[in-house]
Amino acid sequence: MSDTPKTSRLELASDSLPQDRVFVDPSSAGVDFQFDGKTAAVFDDMVGRSVPMYDEIQRLTVELANDFAVPRTRLYDLGCSTGTTLLNLDAVLPQDVSFVGVDNAPEMLAKARTKFTARGAQRDIDFITADLQQDRVVEDASVVIILLTLQFIRPLNRASVIRRIYEGMREQAALILVEKIIVDNGLFNRMFIRHYYDMKRRNGYSESEIANKREALENVLIPYRPEENVALLKEAGFNQVEEFFRWYNFNGMIAVK
Ligand SMILES: C[S@@+](CC[C@H](N)C(=O)[O-])C[C@H]1O[C@@H](n2cnc3c(N)ncnc32)[C@H](O)[C@@H]1O
Repeated sequence: MSDTPKTSRLELASDSLPQDRVFVDPSSAGVDFQFDGKTAAVFDDMVGRSVPMYDEIQRLTVELANDFAVPRTRLYDLGCSTGTTLLNLDAVLPQDVSFVGVDNAPEMLAKARTKFTARGAQRDIDFITADLQQDRVVEDASVVIILLTLQFIRPLNRASVIRRIYEGMREQAALILVEKIIVDNGLFNRMFIRHYYDMKRRNGYSESEIANKREALENVLIPYRPEENVALLKEAGFNQVEEFFRWYNFNGMIAVK
């Protein structure tokens, strides 16, 4: 384990990013949400305005990853999108940890490669197009990060995805999982979701954009209860699991093999 990292310059959403207007068009509601070129083009703005405390989630992820990263092993970011988390990690983690970014959307990975080239990063880094539902991608990992991605995996496949990840991890390696969640209690669930939509309004999304995206995500993003995610992790073999982040209907968990 290494010391707490110095605060890094985080690659967060800023005013200069191309603005997410994907759900301004009313017809967008009728089509399942996709991580296609249109989404990739505005993704950094979208994620910064749609995920509460996104910058803080990034910071915690970098700190925890740095606690577990082992020289001459690999760190994976599964569902790495445009590579923001890997860029933040690159600023802090020792250079002898190799990075692997995995996503099944080539348009996302194209953006990630461009961002890494622009940074002039020297690290050994691979971006791999793969489907976590079918492909075994994790090997010799001391850290695996999966942020806001398991929620897009079909529920039927989630246990096998987590099991394959576990099998590719070294002893004492850490899995960092962040998800949108639901809770059992209907009253709290409604309150949390209401406050979540308030946050989106504060971040500049209109009522119709919020409603259209909600409809487009209906069959695509399926949140679990935190207890279900803990059960998935324990059943895969992780013996230490702890929550490290919570904001209403979002949570982060760390699991150690
Ligand atoms: C919400 S984004 C993740 C955001 C990113 N981890 C971050 O923190 O900024 C979800 C990503 O998972 C990818 N994804 C969804 N299903 C996948 C699958 N079955 N295999 C690989 N990647 C997948 C999507 O293409 C998308 O880039």
